[in-house]
Amino acid sequence: MYGTLLLIHILAATIWTGGHIVLSLVVLPKVLREGATRQLLDFESVYEKIGLPALVLQVVTGLALAHRLIPDVSQWFNLADPVSHGIALKLILLTLTVGFAIDAKLRIIPNLSERNLVVMAWHIIPVTCFSIMFVVVGVSFRTGWLW
Ligand code: HEM
Repeated sequence: MYGTLLLIHILAATIWTGGHIVLSLVVLPKVLREGATRQLLDFESVYEKIGLPALVLQVVTGLALAHRLIPDVSQWFNLADPVSHGIALKLILLTLTVGFAIDAKLRIIPNLSERNLVVMAWHIIPVTCFSIMFVVVGVSFRTGWLW
């Protein structure tokens, strides 16, 4: 069971983090250079079909993996336990990611134009950084890098 959860978690991570790196490093610079709002909307509409289910899988498997490491959910923010650092950091990153995503979806994307492309970029870049930090924190559970 542990192997299956980890496999799904890592597979979904490749989709979520990989997709955001492609978006930030390949799609976004071209969109900003050419003011090509349409290209960004096209990428978003294709990517969200696989990116959002990947994030949902990430959260479900992540919570199950966290529960395996610390079965008592009330201890997930007990920072005296180093394992809880990783779980707490992941939950903070998740809250930030969801906050930025909701703001982009409800406030920016409906009125996306050349005028607010930079505001949109300032949503895409942080969410990409968070997605990479998710992976770094994930790897730290084994390596102890961050705690
Ligand atoms: C987009 C979001 C996420 C990404 C990209 C991600 C990525 C990763 C990666 C790469 C690992 C390393 C797996 C390994 O040890 O080889 C990992 C482990 C882990 N992740 Fe995530 N993760 C995400 C979200 C979450 C969430 C929301 C939670 C819930 C708190 C979570 C909890 C865990 C736990 C507990 C482990 C350690 C599993 C273990 O070694 O037993 N993750 N994650």
